[in-house]
Amino acid sequence: MMKSQIFTALLLVALAVGAPVSEEDDEKVTVTKNFFPDFLIKYTSKHDIVKIIVPINSLNFDENSSESESNSKETDSEVTIFFVEADVDENGKRDYKGLYVLKEGKSKMILANGVDAAASCDDSKKVYLAATDGLYTYKDDDKTAVKYGSLTDNIKGIAKEKSGDVLYILTDDNNVYNVTNNGNSKVKVDGIENAQQIVLDYSDNLYYYTPDKKIHVKTADGITEITGLPANPTKVNIIRPPFIIEDGLPILIDNVAYIAYSNGTSENSDFDFEADAIPTAFGMEPALIQYYAYNKNIYEYNILAMVLGEILDELKTFLSGKTDSIQSIATRKKNKV
Ligand SMILES: *[C@@H]1O[C@H](CO)[C@@H](O)[C@H](O)[C@H]1NC(C)=O
Ligand SMILES: *[C@@H]1O[C@H](CO)[C@@H](O)[C@H](O)[C@H]1NC(C)=O
Ligand SMILES: *[C@@H]1O[C@H](CO)[C@@H](O)[C@H](O)[C@H]1NC(C)=O
Repeated sequence: MMKSQIFTALLLVALAVGAPVSEEDDEKVTVTKNFFPDFLIKYTSKHDIVKIIVPINSLNFDENSSESESNSKETDSEVTIFFVEADVDENGKRDYKGLYVLKEGKSKMILANGVDAAASCDDSKKVYLAATDGLYTYKDDDKTAVKYGSLTDNIKGIAKEKSGDVLYILTDDNNVYNVTNNGNSKVKVDGIENAQQIVLDYSDNLYYYTPDKKIHVKTADGITEITGLPANPTKVNIIRPPFIIEDGLPILIDNVAYIAYSNGTSENSDFDFEADAIPTAFGMEPALIQYYAYNKNIYEYNILAMVLGEILDELKTFLSGKTDSIQSIATRKKNKV
């Protein structure tokens, strides 16, 4: 069940484009270029889009927002997303080209030296921005970045716990720090060496990989290596999961997606990607609306709109048993689906 919940958007596209998917859980889906139709494009860049962050806090899902607001425009999603552009060389090295915000079809660069962002999953509106000279927060009124605290580190990754103030940064020298004292101090996280990327799941377990491409998870009980993954991959990408996944997250190992759990196990997700159809970034946090970056474009997959469309019948089986997830997001009064 968890497998199809994660890549809901891709499963629906598979059904829509007639890719061979059966209703059984263990049928594989291979993602091709057909999964990225032009009509789903929300933004086009000159550079690769290397990160997408979709805050699932009150910035997007305000419990007190009025109905009239949510019924406004049909076509443009009101979800605010953040993304990072870069030119990527053949070794995977990134030449960053800015951190942007995208809302209602309008994009704005908010930090020329921004490299990542992170938001809580609570009723705050906070979004933390990581840059090559420290931390910033996002100010929604005028879509700007405001310096947060006094750290001046060259940061390359950031992760925010589900709620509260705990924030982790990955610095350019591959150390992971716990940011404390309102952004004015940092404490090195014990036991993590040489991290290349950091991502938190919604149980606040911290996943990272090391230069040997092995994935590790730090839980309250210590650090464990994730087992069951292929040895010696060329590329690894740890993906921020949909919020309905509590205790684990998807990982792209070369062209195959796996799900890693905080207990150190993993399983094949049964989603893989053709070599020329691998997304450069994933924004699947809200579950029912997902964003994928591919070929310098950002695509938006609005699950409910897809479900209410022509492929309703095929989706009934898929959706049965998932009413909890749907209700959960519905009660958060999604602005627009
Ligand atoms: C929503 O409104 C209620 C009552 O006015 C208030 O107590 C609550 O804090 C508000 N919630 C948010 C997320 O703003
Ligand atoms: C990070 O700091 C917070 C307090 O600011 C603490 O509760 C938490 O346990 C720390 N996490 C780690 C991994 O050290
Ligand atoms: C690890 O966690 C997953 C997800 O909760 C569960 O399905 C699996 O059985 C667990 N494996 C072990 C060995 O505990």
